[in-house]
Amino acid sequence: MSQIPQSVIVHPRENLGGSIEVPGDKSISHRVAMMAALASGTTKISNFLQSEDCVNTLRAMEALGARSFFTAEGDLTIQGTGGNLLEPAGPLNVGNSGTTIRLLAGILAGQSATYELTGDDSLCSRPMTRIKDPLERMGAKVELTGEKGTAPIKITGGRLKPINYTLPVASAQVKSCLLLAGLFAEGVTSVTEPIPTRDHTERLFRTLGIPINVDGLTVQITGFGPSGPSLKARPFRIPGDFSSAAFWLVAAAARRKSVVNIAGVGLNPRRIALLDVLKRAGAQVEVKLSSANSDAEPVGDIRITGGKLKAVEVGGADIPNLIDELPLVAVLGALAEGTTIIRNAAELRVKESDRIATMAANLRLMGVEVEERDDGMAIQGGGALKASAPVRSYGDHRIAMAMAVLATCAEEPVVINNVACVDTSYPGFWNDLKQIGGQVE
Ligand code: S3P
Repeated sequence: MSQIPQSVIVHPRENLGGSIEVPGDKSISHRVAMMAALASGTTKISNFLQSEDCVNTLRAMEALGARSFFTAEGDLTIQGTGGNLLEPAGPLNVGNSGTTIRLLAGILAGQSATYELTGDDSLCSRPMTRIKDPLERMGAKVELTGEKGTAPIKITGGRLKPINYTLPVASAQVKSCLLLAGLFAEGVTSVTEPIPTRDHTERLFRTLGIPINVDGLTVQITGFGPSGPSLKARPFRIPGDFSSAAFWLVAAAARRKSVVNIAGVGLNPRRIALLDVLKRAGAQVEVKLSSANSDAEPVGDIRITGGKLKAVEVGGADIPNLIDELPLVAVLGALAEGTTIIRNAAELRVKESDRIATMAANLRLMGVEVEERDDGMAIQGGGALKASAPVRSYGDHRIAMAMAVLATCAEEPVVINNVACVDTSYPGFWNDLKQIGGQVE
């Protein structure tokens, strides 16, 4: 994996289609790696996402005492610490990964030692008071040594008290941070979210035999005290990442009669709101579940056939369920007849880039009329797409990939600069684009 900035030229294509198996789910890979590192014994994981973000989680867990190995077939084994985490000599640098820093902070808050967490410039500009405040209420000391409520983070933990906490923003990362910290508290930690967010942590806890109680928007966990839970290693298979499949779903949706099949993809109901958006926009979507009811996460196949796209509006409770796909909803907006509106999505401003500003700037470069709003945007779609200058990734993987999908629908080849960031979540992206008929230099 390289960090050298690179550019690509993406050529327009009349048609794209075929079958793709997308790489493992990023959110689930992070969580399984962390829990495997806390368990005793060796966890075997197939389809673990070998992207920079997830490798950063593995590195951090290694610095805390776990050992991880990839087999020649690409399977991962993690030798756990049995809950006895080491105190690393220096700061844990987790690169670009918001999920790693926020979830790991929850685990470290439960340890009676001092740890430092840091990351790249993008991560060190993202808000961390959202975890500091509740972790401090639980009794940890959390210093944000960055300029304004940002990483580097210094955590001194141990002897946590349980809390009842209502999240001020809908964030699965913050919810998960508190559930992980709650494992090390004495008593019942209760987290209430304003809108449902992805529940991979809750599902994983159940799979590992950790009792968890979900009542509406409230999740409760009974802590095991400072020594934490005694977890036994067990094998996992990570489903394909719906957020990676989303690029090909939109690529197909944009072309009449283009068909893309995606096999073995995660279909967690809190992740797949894009399917409904695609249907409303005019695509034909068929889903076939292949998982057993007893599986921790629903998995299945998706077949999409493109159609003539019309504008849609997204907002409200769909936003957390679509959060990582919103750059692609903006792409759909550029391709659909009419005005596409994204609202209630201010969280986009604090992702790997300010995704409202960066998508608006890139769409305008392509000749699309966009009104940027505090919590979203309005996009006038259906016009001719031609880049007046190279498109920029702003170092944000999802911006680079969303713009690559849009570029396949342009009138002329489009240069996209600084695309090394794609390795953050989807190292095989360019090959998969070629596999469905894309042309990339
Ligand atoms: C994630 C949750 C979301 C999402 C991120 C991954 C997770 O972030 O945008 O890519 O793994 O829990 P927030 O929970 O902060 O919205």
